[in-house]
Amino acid sequence: MLVDSKIIRKNKFVKSNNKYHIISYGCQMNFADSEVVASILENIGYEHADNIENSNLILINTCSIREKAEQTIRKKLSSINFLKKKNKSLKIGVLGCMAERLKEKFLHEEKIVDLVVGPDAYRDLPNLLKEVEFGNDAVNVLLSKDETYADINPQRFNSNGISAFVSITRGCDNMCTFCVVPFTRGRERSRDPKSILAEIKQLEENGYKEITLLGQNVDSYLWYGGGLKKDFKKASEIQKKTSINFAKLLDIVAKSYPKFRIRFTTSNPQDMDTEVLITMKAHKNICNHIHLPVQSGSDKILKEMNRQHTRKEYLKLVSEIKTILPDCGLSQDMITGFPNETEKDHKDTLSLMNLVKYDFGFMFKYSERPGTLASRKLDDNILEEIKQRRLSEIIDLQFKHSFENLSKYVNKTTVILVEKESKKSKRFWAGRNEQNIMVVFPKEDFKPGDFVDVLVEENTATTLKGIALNKIK
Ligand code: 5AD
Ligand code: SF4
Repeated sequence: MLVDSKIIRKNKFVKSNNKYHIISYGCQMNFADSEVVASILENIGYEHADNIENSNLILINTCSIREKAEQTIRKKLSSINFLKKKNKSLKIGVLGCMAERLKEKFLHEEKIVDLVVGPDAYRDLPNLLKEVEFGNDAVNVLLSKDETYADINPQRFNSNGISAFVSITRGCDNMCTFCVVPFTRGRERSRDPKSILAEIKQLEENGYKEITLLGQNVDSYLWYGGGLKKDFKKASEIQKKTSINFAKLLDIVAKSYPKFRIRFTTSNPQDMDTEVLITMKAHKNICNHIHLPVQSGSDKILKEMNRQHTRKEYLKLVSEIKTILPDCGLSQDMITGFPNETEKDHKDTLSLMNLVKYDFGFMFKYSERPGTLASRKLDDNILEEIKQRRLSEIIDLQFKHSFENLSKYVNKTTVILVEKESKKSKRFWAGRNEQNIMVVFPKEDFKPGDFVDVLVEENTATTLKGIALNKIK
């Protein structure tokens, strides 16, 4: 059963005029978590404020993935310092990965912070807020083996009312050597499929048209009645027989909600298997798009990163995807300038990109994160200007591939779900096709939530532009 904060308001100790505002940084998981936090706050009488000036509680949901992300958050904290002088009752809290990484140190380093709450401790917010009211330090950064917030119905305060994230796993067990996530979000655990279906049902009732199943590693989803993935070996025979993996979950969701468009992210190459691809092929409502981070095209670097696949295995998976799902969109994450990366390793990355020809990608310079295996064992020894030059080269190559791939849509029709007004023009709608490519077209009589056939007339590297032919029933 999902708890709807609008219906059940117990533990209502907070003054009813209290307003909160949440600022989220980082990955989609953080944005989804902020909606869970909003639900918890509304359950104790808080009301959402559209801007920080009107709030008595500002929460910043933070990201630690790269140093730059943390710097941005510290700047944000300094920029809201003045509000505390204006409003003596204002409380400021930090949530998420940076809260988990820095723990109570945050309270000493950033004097304006009143509470620090890690990603698995949001249920404790009512108690922590009480502590803050009493003038005490309020820190909870305990990580959990089973918390999935399964019973909490997110308050979709940031939503366009059309597409929503539904989280299905939390944490990550992969231990890529560069990544801080396993330390800040803890062990990987899967959410009860019943609660996933209940959340989607509510979304359907509220008029949503698209969901993205969300997790650090969705293909590793495994439900056998609760418990960590790594403990599956110890499960009973019955539990093993009735267990639900990601392909099965996709199948159940697609069958239960045939009118919903279904997406998922993120996939890790070593966990994505043929069964998932066959399930995608079997259901028209599962979008043909796979975000498949690779990080590097060099076997040496993949090994040092503790990625659990080789370049050859990755390319074999890509070829299988292209065979089973010929029109599947593919995107990547890439890191450049990892310790000891040579020009040859960098060339291997460029050559892998030339073989796959991704539709788009997210590319980053390596940023050493304290506590990770890479930071303990490897010297961050690639000069900043070399990192920057290699990054520019992979960005330029991605740009070329994106432009070429998108130009193949010109003079063809593609189905899009209208999501919002185009950022560039009030006269245009914007939406994505199933390959996750942004498409814009003149509004005419169409509206958000419509599925529309668009005839593509031109493209850039990131967007298709066309005219809408008709609405699809
Ligand atoms: N430095 C740079 N990029 C990183 N990522 C994760 N950790 C780091 C790091 N230390 C990137 C990876 C990952 C994406 C979410 O962020 O490409 O897939
Ligand atoms: Fe980090 Fe690797 Fe897990 Fe992704 S799969 S969250 S990069 S440890």
